Amino acid sequence: MKIVENNKVFIIETKSTHYVMAVDCEGVLNHIHWGKPCKAEDYVCSYNGWEKNSNHSAREFSKTEYITFGGTVYRPNAIAAKYADGCREAVLTYDSHKITQEDNSLLLEITLKDKPYNLLVTLCYRIREGYDVIERFAKIKNASDNLIILDKTASGEFNFPSKRPYTSTNANGSWGAEFKMENTELKNGVLSYESKKGGSGHTNSPFFILSQNADEKQGEVYFGALAWSGNFKVELSRDYVGTTRAVIGLNDFDFSYNLHAGEEFITPSVYCGYTNGFAEMSNQMNSFAACHILPKRYAKEPLPVLYNSWEATWFNVSCESQQALAEIAASIGCELFVMDDGWFGERKDDHAGLGDWYVNEKKFPNGLKPLIDKVKSLGMRFGLWFEPEMVNPDSDLFRAHPDWTYHYDTRTPSLLRNQLVLNLTRDDVKEYVFKCMDDMLSQYDISYIKWDMNRAFSETGAENLENPQELWYRHIKAVYEIADALKAKYKDLQIECCASGGGRADLGSLSHFDMVWTSDNTDPVDRLEIQNGFSLLYPIKCMRAWVTDTNRRKRPNDLDYRFNVSMQGSLSIGGNLLEYTKEELDTHKKYIELYKEIRNTVQFGKFYRLADFKRDELYATQYVDDSQSVVFVCTNANSFFTEKFHHINLCGLDPDQLYEVKYFDNVIKKSGSYLMNVGLDFDTWGPLNSIIIMINKA
Ligand code: DGJ
Repeated sequence: MKIVENNKVFIIETKSTHYVMAVDCEGVLNHIHWGKPCKAEDYVCSYNGWEKNSNHSAREFSKTEYITFGGTVYRPNAIAAKYADGCREAVLTYDSHKITQEDNSLLLEITLKDKPYNLLVTLCYRIREGYDVIERFAKIKNASDNLIILDKTASGEFNFPSKRPYTSTNANGSWGAEFKMENTELKNGVLSYESKKGGSGHTNSPFFILSQNADEKQGEVYFGALAWSGNFKVELSRDYVGTTRAVIGLNDFDFSYNLHAGEEFITPSVYCGYTNGFAEMSNQMNSFAACHILPKRYAKEPLPVLYNSWEATWFNVSCESQQALAEIAASIGCELFVMDDGWFGERKDDHAGLGDWYVNEKKFPNGLKPLIDKVKSLGMRFGLWFEPEMVNPDSDLFRAHPDWTYHYDTRTPSLLRNQLVLNLTRDDVKEYVFKCMDDMLSQYDISYIKWDMNRAFSETGAENLENPQELWYRHIKAVYEIADALKAKYKDLQIECCASGGGRADLGSLSHFDMVWTSDNTDPVDRLEIQNGFSLLYPIKCMRAWVTDTNRRKRPNDLDYRFNVSMQGSLSIGGNLLEYTKEELDTHKKYIELYKEIRNTVQFGKFYRLADFKRDELYATQYVDDSQSVVFVCTNANSFFTEKFHHINLCGLDPDQLYEVKYFDNVIKKSGSYLMNVGLDFDTWGPLNSIIIMINKA
């Protein structure tokens, strides 16, 4: 990897790509190339400032690196600033640049300046050895004596080379149906994915993937994933000459930021790259996240198999019921016991208690110690559920501090799940939230927190702020700061990020939390589609996947199927163990043992999507590392009359190596090249069938 500058042409050279920019004759930083490497001396800036006609300026067609609101450009812009004298247009031209080497990374910073107003925008590009992933962010500094109001601050603008329409892939959905992969051909105009709800949400994902003629194995794929868990916006545009661009960053919806004299605003990072095929994209990001995004303490350790009590006891937790569950959880091989909602305040259901983070004495007369002692004596770690950003009006906290929520005095607050959002932009509220969790962690041996968040924002008044439109940004910052502070104090603490399932599953949360709860929908068939979308850009190891009883009556399937689905991520158990037969518990035990043998491969190996329901009526994934390869194959829920012969070709093996392949009762020996090029056939298979195929070097 290297970064070179020659005559204001900047070449960022990653493992196998070039990202090139150059300063043009008017001092504007232009995008030149992103993709396969070319000869350095061939890169030139072709912008010449010629006007096409009075309706379309030359700048309108130019490929800028970070376009401002203003002048004669009307496409989605990256930054908009308002100055004290009333000027609402920013003009950024090259000022300086710097290339720095830090440990195993190189950082290019190009500073652009709006000269009359002393606004400095530094575009930052960081690369790391062995990857084609570039981390981009912008530092926006007010070097003047006056207030500057930022109305938009994207993390990056991107330009794509082909004039042919790209296919945009996003993972869209709703609560319980997150991450549904959707492909849209980009026609002229603007397609935007966004969240305005406070969290990044269940609806769209904060990333772009643009491809041409691509499949898993080959074809041009560009991607950029935003590390932000709040309101975001991805704007994909194609102009009438066929140039496709993306602008990605904080949503400018109801956003503005007061940048005072001397202050600097740093945007969230966007991790972007160009790869050959989708598998390469997912694999680069899977490994990159473990090395460079996830909190360091547990990034390279496999996640423990956890048991979570939610679907077994709902709010009705008690010391006895949890102890009984813990005993069985330990006996089947769980390593961590997490008590979910219901343990605090007057929490009987979702009407009361949020905000009162002290142990409910009726449910736990001697505090949590007897339960935690039991869990520890069984050889498991203990984890606890919190929803720290929320309050029920029926709570001691709300009665004492009715003004601690976002609100307008003249409006009736909208309740969702009977709760309101705490104003975390207030220091006292933020301190209270930290203290509540800190008190529990210092009093008890808790090494895992499930941090939940179950509603969208509304009535977003925040009179404590000089500019209340900053709350969207400041709230998420506060969430990250509290999580970081807890981790700094409790070095071995793991935190799971949950927002009614996958409502805040993004690279922002994964920069501060160790994993995410992927979805409240644990039906295994639905789950495969959800897992498929998640796997595009987010690390497999962070994808908590519970085996539960959901939908078992509506869609009968066996425990083998459920395990074969959940073992494709970070296996967890969430059913009511008290109601299982001995045989069912033995099945749990058998699979948990097997998972422990394969989890390094699943959580850290190369990952391949071999087949999916939409194209193949079959879902298959493969995980490969030096020690072994594991393949999961699942049929869908179609009727028996559609039973088919199925076929898969494997990936990622050494073509010259002889492998032993075990599936059903078969053991065959085949070369890597046979398994990848000829593949494996399965007999007629009915609905909801599944197997694991184990592949070892013979
Ligand atoms: C929503 C989460 O997604 C569930 O797993 C569970 O923790 C509930 N909240 C508890 O209220």
